[in-house]
Amino acid sequence: MGKIIVAPETLDHSFIPEKLPTRENIRSELFLKIRQFFSQSSGKGFKGIHISGSVGSGKTVLSRRVAADLKTVFRENLIICYVNCRFSKRVYRVLAQIASQISSSLPQRGLSKDEFLELIFLATKERAQRLLIILDEIDSLFWGNEGEKATDMLYSLSRYLEKTTFSNFFVATISISRTEEFIFSWLDPATRASFIHEKKHLEAYGPGELVEILRYRAKLAFRNGTISEESLSYLANFVANQAWGNARTAIDLLRLAGEIAEHKNEDVVRPEHIRLAIKEYALIPALDMEKLIGLGRHKLILLLATILALKNSNRSYVTRTMVQEYYRELCAEYGEEPRKTTQIWRYLREIEYELSGIVEVTVSGKNQRGRSTRISINVPLDTLEKNIVKILKKIPSGLG
Ligand SMILES: Nc1ncnc2c1ncn2[C@@H]1O[C@H](COP(=O)(O)OP(=O)(O)OP(=O)(O)O)[C@@H](O)[C@H]1O
Ligand SMILES: [Mg+2]
Repeated sequence: MGKIIVAPETLDHSFIPEKLPTRENIRSELFLKIRQFFSQSSGKGFKGIHISGSVGSGKTVLSRRVAADLKTVFRENLIICYVNCRFSKRVYRVLAQIASQISSSLPQRGLSKDEFLELIFLATKERAQRLLIILDEIDSLFWGNEGEKATDMLYSLSRYLEKTTFSNFFVATISISRTEEFIFSWLDPATRASFIHEKKHLEAYGPGELVEILRYRAKLAFRNGTISEESLSYLANFVANQAWGNARTAIDLLRLAGEIAEHKNEDVVRPEHIRLAIKEYALIPALDMEKLIGLGRHKLILLLATILALKNSNRSYVTRTMVQEYYRELCAEYGEEPRKTTQIWRYLREIEYELSGIVEVTVSGKNQRGRSTRISINVPLDTLEKNIVKILKKIPSGLG
């Protein structure tokens, strides 16, 4: 067992956590809706729900969590199938996957689409009265040249029950894609109306939501007290600003930062470990010397001051006021005239622009002394510091 990470399996993306912070409302909404649909005492029916949302917005985990919740209610009276259409690719493979999850004795090949569907329905009926199919990344069925076949299959799936004499039998699907595009560009109005009865959209996670998610996942995976709130909020901000709020990236970085801290034999995950994790994950462009030299002497001094302030405070960000103390000292050391506050502010903005993704400058909400400017750096500080010092020794003063 690691010093920091005590339950690494809970950081796997296939792990389905007990809770889904910030998605609990939609989780219970979907659960209640499908439960109600499945609870009808007679008749038959099909219900199709579609979930869209950007990369890493929790679509897969939400659908699997809801399915697991329903399973605890309906037990063996509910069969759940999960297919990732991107891995199956062909319509026929998707149907074979579904069939194999219902019963391992069903044939895997040699059947037509209609025969497959019939088999799926009959085999379910033998064992249960409810079937929930999750069709993840459904849009990938429409990328190749199987679009028409896929449309046809979805139509048949949603209308199949109408031709049967089944009673007390209910089928629901949760289909998932990042955008809703395939619905409108591929499904004809009849299929759309039969296959999709409800659409839900998951907004990309912002920093506040990511911090809640990370706090929870760290609680499951890490030894108590081994990651600070500051590290968590730094990580959350970084992912929200630089990685589209992708929760998968956030969790990967959390794990990586934990491993790095363990490897360095430290007891807690600090912001610097997160910077190292970001570097290892190669999320932002590598910082080459050319780019640094391009900043010019004075901005390099300011950047160096920021690094020193970050290092000495061990924080994830520093304020302009904190930087200015180091800045004055460094100006004296390198024989430069310190600039006024407004000029420094402008320089910081320029650095942020020129080192986009690497340096972030944000203006925080008002406090008693007005607004404060926060600066963070998303690359490991030691290497950056060494490189800047090297350049400053080479660029003569008066050229910045
Ligand atoms: N609200 C949440 N609470 C806890 N963990 C979450 C939450 N949302 C997402 N996760 C975790 O983040 C990771 C990515 O989520 P998920 O795979 O569901 O995203 P997705 O929307 O399906 O992404 P993609 O479009 O790439 O398939 C998973 O490890 C998942 O468990
Ligand atoms: Mg997914």
